[in-house]
Amino acid sequence: MKLGVNIDHIATLRNARRINEPDPLMALHFLKEAGADQVTIHLREDRRHITDFDAKRIIENSFLPVNIECSINPEIIDIICKLKPHRATLVPEKREEVTTEGGLDVIRLEKEIKNVIEKLKENEIEVSLFIDPDFEQIKKSAEIGVELIELHTGKYANLHLALNTNINQTPFKVFEKFDRKTLKKELELELKLIKDAAKLGVDLGLEVAAGHGLNFQNVKEIANIKEIIELNIGHSIIANSVFLGLKNAIIKMKELIG
Ligand code: PXP
Repeated sequence: MKLGVNIDHIATLRNARRINEPDPLMALHFLKEAGADQVTIHLREDRRHITDFDAKRIIENSFLPVNIECSINPEIIDIICKLKPHRATLVPEKREEVTTEGGLDVIRLEKEIKNVIEKLKENEIEVSLFIDPDFEQIKKSAEIGVELIELHTGKYANLHLALNTNINQTPFKVFEKFDRKTLKKELELELKLIKDAAKLGVDLGLEVAAGHGLNFQNVKEIANIKEIIELNIGHSIIANSVFLGLKNAIIKMKELIG
């Protein structure tokens, strides 16, 4: 299983102090040493963590392919075309959200997304679509000319946390009314949905990645889905690197996903 390590939150920590450390550029060395397969960054419209300057330096200096997550906003797409990362993963983006909530609506935004895909491909940038494990979204993605999709595992991860911890804030509040039996059932259903979605993607000729909310506790079940070839993991790796060091946190994740 390939591992893309999302290093945005190194920049989140740096920006909390508005100074120059920790520098996300320094992560590249540790990613390579630990055997990561890809660097993932999200150039958000509000630049809350990774900046244009970070993205430029990371792309210019990375030993590994760089996957930039971005919205379909034309200004952002122009920047991405100039930056020329290996891959762009198109994601929905809302200014007020804490993290990417839900997948891209490829059905509703078909025309806009098609134009963006064309532009990125003209610039020799591979394109992936970050979508929910929803059969209709997968079919539409295959239809509009991408070779790769990333399935959003956020609901699975949130159910896993709701079942296994006492955390009781949004987004877990939505599960507040569920008793443990219902939570377990919902978790099983979501896992089955991700499995079936990955299989459908492969049957339609797509490569399938997955990510969001994955951590040491919940990653194995997703990594065991044979149709999924890559995971992109950020928050939990960076969070655990406070205690283990970045290299060890990545090695531990690599061991779990095989
Ligand atoms: N994949 C995509 C497309 C994302 O937008 C994100 C979050 O930036 C991730 C993976 C990583 O999510 P997490 O930080 O929860 O591991």
